[in-house]
Amino acid sequence: MQFFIDSADVGEIKKAMGMGLCDGVTTNPSLVAKTGRKFGEVLKEITALVPGPVSAEVTAVDHEGMMKEGRALARVADNVVVKVPLVVEGLRAVRDLTADGIRTNVTLCFTPVQALLAAKAGATYVSPFVGRLDDISEDGMAMVAQIIEVYRAYDFSTKVLVASVRHPLHVLEAARLGADVATVPFGVIDQLVKHPLTDSGLKKFLADWEKVPKEK
Ligand code: E4P
Repeated sequence: MQFFIDSADVGEIKKAMGMGLCDGVTTNPSLVAKTGRKFGEVLKEITALVPGPVSAEVTAVDHEGMMKEGRALARVADNVVVKVPLVVEGLRAVRDLTADGIRTNVTLCFTPVQALLAAKAGATYVSPFVGRLDDISEDGMAMVAQIIEVYRAYDFSTKVLVASVRHPLHVLEAARLGADVATVPFGVIDQLVKHPLTDSGLKKFLADWEKVPKEK
């Protein structure tokens, strides 16, 4: 499974790269707003830093506007993937951007049937939002399992990019289901490596090492 970082913060992206956990990046308008920086400037910096795919979202809600923005975003760098919302106009834009040779990430997916439509439109990635479904007492990972089942049944090439990841169990479940990618916020990436028994075990080994007679 590939690890993308779900962030527009260049500092976090650099740290994830240092940990070898940055096969790509996903951004969205909320993540960009958090940086307080201009989108164009942030996108240029991230795409130059990360060799993998970098998702950048359109904010137009009509087909024409999405096409204009999508084409402009794709011109920023070769590794830009245009993120498009899962609405009728968005699916039309995905078909046309795909025909132009532009990679797309269909975002805000909350049902397996929506994911089926994204695949039929030719999306490069579909982003099922697991955390936001869990938040309303639905089962985000059950949605992912059904998407994978449907995509396998018809051999769709659209990649399943598990999004809205909130904790390490989401990452584990995504990997167990065979998702192509999980996009993970830096806070969760940081949690993945940690275990209290690892920390206490290391502390004890180092304390015992002090008791071992040293070579002269
Ligand atoms: C990524 O592509 C999504 O925009 C992001 O994972 C959404 O996460 P959230 O539900 O925590 O905002």
